[in-house]
Amino acid sequence: MTSISIRPTDRVFILTGAGISAESGLPTFRASDGLWAGHRVEDICTPEALERNPALVWDFYSKRRADCAKAEPNPAHKALAELESKLGERFFLCTQNVDDLHERAGSRCLVHMHGELAKSRCSEECGAPPVEDHTVYASLDEVGRCICGARLRPHIVFFGEMPLEMNRIQQELNRSTLMAVIGTSGSVYPAANFVHWARQAGAKTIYIGPERPLNAEAFTTIVEGKAGEALPGLFAVE
Ligand code: APR
Repeated sequence: MTSISIRPTDRVFILTGAGISAESGLPTFRASDGLWAGHRVEDICTPEALERNPALVWDFYSKRRADCAKAEPNPAHKALAELESKLGERFFLCTQNVDDLHERAGSRCLVHMHGELAKSRCSEECGAPPVEDHTVYASLDEVGRCICGARLRPHIVFFGEMPLEMNRIQQELNRSTLMAVIGTSGSVYPAANFVHWARQAGAKTIYIGPERPLNAEAFTTIVEGKAGEALPGLFAVE
């Protein structure tokens, strides 16, 4: 059984992807039965798609909101929340996921670099902040309005848009001494580069997942297995 020691001087940066929510019943993107199996990214997850067919985009994200509401955090989410409680401010979690399972497992110090299902924002980018929105919209007519009157859009980072919180992420990567990447295929940038940035900062880099990621060569340790089985008990905090 692999054990990862965390020393008193270690600062831990965790990056998670869709794989950590797989055992909660939420589909990943690139599996053969994944989210992108039934849809073309350019029809669903681009600013042009939102402009061209907002009904299709809202239908896709409303369905994901409904799935997320039925899902529960799994032992992997809980193991990360427990690690954070032991490490305090020496712990930072960056997730590519838009579900709220990390928060519901107890994680507090985290950023959603690809946005959040539980929020919507102005489709005209009027500057109003994103609003909490769990509504599963049955039709485009039902979709709420921004204070400026424009229709709301999912607070999701589409392909071609800038990920969120990149300054904070860069700052945390630069001071990390141990980076663990969990459940992501390494297909999408800039997230797939974070392991290289961490190595340049001198950090140990660990990957946890059932398949080797595309950027496997950048990891000092690979723990092959499902997150919900591999994470509990993996980290030994000294
Ligand atoms: N435990 C851990 N990892 C798992 C599990 C599991 N139980 N099941 C699957 N995985 C792994 C797969 O091996 C794969 O490497 O999760 C990864 C999922 O990869 P993707 O489907 O590509 O998801 P992700 O890497 O999170 O996608 C990144 O792409 O479409 C965009 O914005 C979207 O945030 C997403 C980004």
